[in-house]
Amino acid sequence: MTSLAWIPVVILIAYAVHYAMNGSDRPLDAERLLASYDYVIVGAGSAGSVLAARLSEDPEATVLLLEAGSDDARVPEVAVPMATFSLWNNRDVTWSYKTTPQRDACQSMTNQRCSWPRGRLLGGSSSINAMIYLRGHPDDYDRWSATGCDGWSYEQVLPYFVKSERNLNRNLASSSQHGVNGPMTVADANQSFSSELLDAFLKAGVSLGYEVGDVNGEQPTGKFMHNQANVENGRRQSVFDAYVRPVIGARNNLHIKTRALVHRVLLHGNRAVGIQVQLESESADLVKISASREVILAAGSVNTPKILMLSGIGRRDHLESLHIPVVVDLPVGDNLQDHVLFPVLQFTVNASVSIRVDDAKSVTEILKYAVLKRGILSHPAGIMGHAFLKSTNQRADDIRPYIKLVLNGVMLGGSEEGTRQYSAIVNQDLELGRHVFGGYEGRHGFHLYPVILHPDSIGTIRLASSDPGDIPLIEPAYLSQENDIAMMVEGIRLAESVVNTEPFAILGAKMTTNRHPNCLDHEFDSDRYWVCVIRHMAATEFHPVGTCKMGSRNDSTTVVDPDLKVKGIEGLRIVDASVIPSLISGNTNAPVVMIAEKAADVIKESYHDPDD
Ligand SMILES: Cc1cc2nc3c(=O)[nH]c(=O)nc-3n(C[C@H](O)[C@H](O)[C@H](O)COP(=O)(O)OP(=O)(O)OC[C@H]3O[C@@H](n4cnc5c(N)ncnc54)[C@H](O)[C@@H]3O)c2cc1C
Ligand SMILES: *[C@@H]1O[C@H](CO)[C@@H](O)[C@H](O)[C@H]1NC(C)=O
Ligand SMILES: *[C@@H]1O[C@H](CO)[C@@H](O)[C@H](O)[C@H]1NC(C)=O
Ligand SMILES: *[C@@H]1O[C@H](CO)[C@@H](O)[C@H](O)[C@H]1NC(C)=O
Ligand SMILES: *[C@@H]1O[C@H](CO)[C@@H](O)[C@H](O)[C@H]1NC(C)=O
Repeated sequence: MTSLAWIPVVILIAYAVHYAMNGSDRPLDAERLLASYDYVIVGAGSAGSVLAARLSEDPEATVLLLEAGSDDARVPEVAVPMATFSLWNNRDVTWSYKTTPQRDACQSMTNQRCSWPRGRLLGGSSSINAMIYLRGHPDDYDRWSATGCDGWSYEQVLPYFVKSERNLNRNLASSSQHGVNGPMTVADANQSFSSELLDAFLKAGVSLGYEVGDVNGEQPTGKFMHNQANVENGRRQSVFDAYVRPVIGARNNLHIKTRALVHRVLLHGNRAVGIQVQLESESADLVKISASREVILAAGSVNTPKILMLSGIGRRDHLESLHIPVVVDLPVGDNLQDHVLFPVLQFTVNASVSIRVDDAKSVTEILKYAVLKRGILSHPAGIMGHAFLKSTNQRADDIRPYIKLVLNGVMLGGSEEGTRQYSAIVNQDLELGRHVFGGYEGRHGFHLYPVILHPDSIGTIRLASSDPGDIPLIEPAYLSQENDIAMMVEGIRLAESVVNTEPFAILGAKMTTNRHPNCLDHEFDSDRYWVCVIRHMAATEFHPVGTCKMGSRNDSTTVVDPDLKVKGIEGLRIVDASVIPSLISGNTNAPVVMIAEKAADVIKESYHDPDD
C-alpha cells in the first residue's frame, strides 16, 4: 500500500529501540460508555484534544471524546518527525479524500483530482501534519474582529496563543508574544539537525533587504526565520500528546472512544440532545449518546459541515435535493478557503548540506535517532525555514504578507523513492512525476515552495449523498481567480531571487531544468511556462478552513456566532478550523489550538454558577 519501501524498515527499527522499554500502547478507550455526558466532543483532532483536556479540568463535568480513527500508537511512523510524508497516503491514518475534478488546477493529477489528506486518528491532522508552528499576522485576527467576530482581535486572542505554548527557544521565551508554561512544545527545527542551507537562506534574505526575526510576533511581514515545530525529544508531539495524554488515567470524568464514527447530531426541535454514533467494536447498530449541556463538533473543515448537513442543518436547496429534512437553513459548507503551494522549484547544490532520503536510512542515522533522538530522522519533515513577503498584487493598505516561501531541505528528485512517494501522495502518474522531478538521484539539493496566503478562489463542501459512509464533495475551485495565478508567478520569481544570491552561490545552488511535458509550448522559465506548470502541479498546503464561518448573527454568510454556537440551534457548538472566517497568513494548527483554548473558556464561563 505505502509506496515507500524504506520507511517501514527504518521506522520499525528506530521505534523498537526507542520505545520498546516503554508501554505507550496501553488502552485508552473507556471500557463502558455512559448513556449521557455533560459534553460530547466529536473528533479528537487539534481542537477536540484541547477541549477534552480543558473541559474535564472541572471534576464535576463529564466529557466524552469520540474519534473515528484509531490510536496513533498503532502506526509508529506517526512519532518519527522525518517519516511524516509516509503518512499522507496511508489509509490507516487518513480519510484519503480527493477534490472533485478541477477546472483550473490539478491538471497533472489523475482525473484532475488533487489529494486531500486529513488525519483520521487520535490527534487528527496534528498527528500527520508537518508540525510547523506558525500563527499568521496580528492583522488577520483584527480583520476577523472587524468583520463581526467580537472578541477575536489579536489583543484578545494572544493570551490563548501564549497559554497553549511552551517555547524552548530562550530568545523567544522572554518575549511578551510567547509562552513557556503551556502544554504545546515549540522547538527549533534545527535543534537536533542543522544545515548550512538554513544559514544560506537567512543570509540571502538579509542580502535582499529583508529582516531575520520572529515571524510569530507583532510584525512578520518581510521577515525570514528558521522553522519552529511541535517536536518533543525527537518525537512528534500531536495536540493529543500535548493536552490529553498527560491526563489520561488521572481523570475519570473524561472518557475517550476511538473507532467511533459519528453520523448525526440528534435534535429535539431546535435543541441538540446528543449524537448518533457507529462503534466499530460493537455490532453494526447505531448507538445514541446524550449530551446534557452540549454537543461540540470538532471534526474538521470537511467532516463538521458533513455532520451538520446530515443532521438537517445546511443550505435548504442542497438538503432537499438529497431528501434530508431541513431543520435550519444555513450556508454550511460555503466559504471553503485553502492555501495552495507550488512544489516544483528544486535546486541542486554541490555541498553535502541537504537531507537525502538515502542518508536517512543509513545505520548511522538510525542509531543516532534511536540512541540520541537526534539527526535526520528527528527533523520535522525537512522544513528548515520560512519567509513572509509582500506581493505587488496585493492592496497597498494591507500590511499582511501575501506570499510565503518555505525552505525544504529534501529534494524530491534526489531519490527514486522521493519521486515515487510524492507522485503517489499527490495522485500523479509516476512517469509524469519522474519527468517533473527526477534525474538527480543521489544528489544534494532542496526545494523552495511559494505559497499564496490569501487566495481569492473560494470553494465548497457538499454531501455526495445522505449516506454517512460516503465521501463528501470537496470543490476548492483552486486557481479559479486570475489574481491567484499572478501571485503564484510572483512567488516563483521571489524564490528565484532568494536563491540567486551570494550565500546560495557558495553552495553551488542551481535550479533543475526539467521541462513539464505538458508545457513544452512555452519557453522554459517564462511567465507563461510557469502559469502552465502551476495549473498542472500546484497543490494544497493542507489548510482548509471556513466551511462553518463565524461572524455576527445577523450576517447571512455565517453559521456560528462569536461564541461558536450554531445559529438557530441550542446546545450545539463548532470548535475547529471550519469556523475560521478568513484564512490567516500562516499555517493553521496553532490558530486552531488557540480557538479551542478560547472556546473552552467561553463554554466554562457560560455554565459557571455565580453562587459557587
Ligand atoms: C498533511 C497535513 C500537513 C499539515 N501541516 C501543517 C503544519 O505543518 N503546520 C500547521 O500549523 N498546520 C498543518 N496542517 C494543518 C493543521 O494540522 C490543521 O489545520 C489542524 O490540525 C485542523 O484541526 P481540526 O481540529 O480542525 O481538525 P483535525 O485535526 O483534522 O481533527 C478532526 C478529527 O475529527 C475526526 N472525525 C472526523 N469526522 C468524524 C466523525 N464523523 N466521527 C468521529 N470523529 C470524526 C477526525 O478523524 C479527526 O481526528 C497540516 C494538515 C495536514 C492534513
Ligand atoms: C516513557 O513514557 C513516559 C511518559 O510518556 C516518559 O516520561 C518516559 O521518558 C518514557 N520512557 C522512556 C524510556 O522512553
Ligand atoms: C536555529 O537557527 C537559528 C538561526 O540561525 C538560531 O537563532 C537558533 O539558535 C538555532 N537553534 C538551535 C537550537 O540551534
Ligand atoms: C560549487 O559550485 C560553485 C559555483 O558553481 C563553485 O564556485 C564551487 O567551487 C563548487 N564547489 C565544489 C566543492 O565543487
Ligand atoms: C449586525 O449586528 C452587529 C452587532 O453584532 C451590528 O453592529 C450591526 O449593525 C448589525 N447589522 C445589521 C445590518 O443589522
